[in-house]
Amino acid sequence: MENRYLISLSSFGITFSLLLVMVLLALEPMLGSAAKPPAIFVLGDSTVDVGTNSYLQGSQIRADFPHYGIDFPHSRPTGRFSNGLNGADLLARLLGYNSSPRPFFSLGTPLESYLRKHAFRGVSFASAGSGLLYLTNSELIVVPLSEQIKQFATLQGILTDVRGSEATQAMLQKSLFCISIGSNDLFGYVASNSTIPSQEFISILMQEYETHIKALYNLGARKFGIISVPPLGCCPKIRLSEEKGNCSKALNDLAQDFYLALDALLYNITSEIQDLKYSLGNAYLMTITVINNPQYFHIKNVDTACCGFGKLNAEHGCNATANLCSNRRDYLFWDQYHPTQAAANLAANTLYAGPPLYVSPINFAQLVQL
Ligand SMILES: *[C@@H]1O[C@H](CO)[C@@H](O)[C@H](O)[C@H]1NC(C)=O
Ligand SMILES: *[C@@H]1O[C@H](CO)[C@@H](O)[C@H](O)[C@H]1NC(C)=O
Ligand SMILES: *[C@@H]1O[C@H](CO)[C@@H](O)[C@H](O)[C@H]1NC(C)=O
Ligand SMILES: *[C@@H]1O[C@H](CO)[C@@H](O)[C@H](O)[C@H]1NC(C)=O
Repeated sequence: MENRYLISLSSFGITFSLLLVMVLLALEPMLGSAAKPPAIFVLGDSTVDVGTNSYLQGSQIRADFPHYGIDFPHSRPTGRFSNGLNGADLLARLLGYNSSPRPFFSLGTPLESYLRKHAFRGVSFASAGSGLLYLTNSELIVVPLSEQIKQFATLQGILTDVRGSEATQAMLQKSLFCISIGSNDLFGYVASNSTIPSQEFISILMQEYETHIKALYNLGARKFGIISVPPLGCCPKIRLSEEKGNCSKALNDLAQDFYLALDALLYNITSEIQDLKYSLGNAYLMTITVINNPQYFHIKNVDTACCGFGKLNAEHGCNATANLCSNRRDYLFWDQYHPTQAAANLAANTLYAGPPLYVSPINFAQLVQL
């Protein structure tokens, strides 16, 4: 009895929020920027990388060749793991910018001369393949989150030299620190057949996350827009090795546990540090809602990669000779692992203005207004 009540209540909640998300989609052109943050700093993995890995000599995780970028202006591959814009670009647009801030490596050296010559609107440190753990994908050459934070520390020091300490602190306090990471650590855990129990592994990841957030706080960050991990088990590449192309329950369970642990961690951190503010986006729930109700979101295919080879178009990665789907707007997945621009747009709109079921305790629009 009690259980049934709970189930119908929660499915009511989801239906209700689905309606809300649909309303938001209809309102999309009206979502203006309520309060443009002075700068955006982006950290994380391929979900938000805008070209970092193209600068990394020897990196094996890159997207600087066709068909990547086919829907970007001039069909230019930019290193984004997308047919067009990615989540960082689309969020930045909602926040009043034209696109994501540019990669740290693209600023050139010395950094000081760049900062003296150009208007500053933030930097992206995100590196595809990276994780919370230093060793995640290190053999493929990526910038792990701890190194991304060291790069931010360098930048913060130079900004302080150029603009003074007070102005830099004031700017950082109002800036948005957007972090999207964790998927590669979980993929790595499953691929390694680790004997560490999953709850223990997730608590190791949370200790890392806590260290990284506190390091950023100590460097002046106050507003954190954090994106949890999507249903990793539903990526075309993972579906390939499941019966009937289903989602992998093991990976999806990990993704959900990761979200719950992260929610608890952030809640704990803010009870300890009161002037740290955050929004946490539940990428699992957002994406599984689309997978289970694609028609509401005008998506027709939620299991096949748009660009690739073979079964589910996911047996080999996207490149210039890969098969390309005819209507990219109809697909959830662009390649073996990454969303299309259309799917990233749904997520960005929900992070920016969505209800607490998907982004809590407040959404990104509310966070930047604080
Ligand atoms: C993990 O187990 C699978 C299947 O049992 C095997 O194919 C794979 O090589 C193993 N991976 C490692 C890193 O040992
Ligand atoms: C695959 O998914 C279908 C439909 O959701 C479900 O009925 C079936 O039990 C799943 N099969 C396996 C092996 O999990
Ligand atoms: C949150 O804090 C409580 C009480 O100090 C502790 O028991 C719990 O393990 C913490 N959870 C996380 C995820 O840090
Ligand atoms: C694209 O990938 C396929 C499959 O791995 C490979 O056979 C082909 O040579 C690649 N094409 C290019 C242009 O790199």
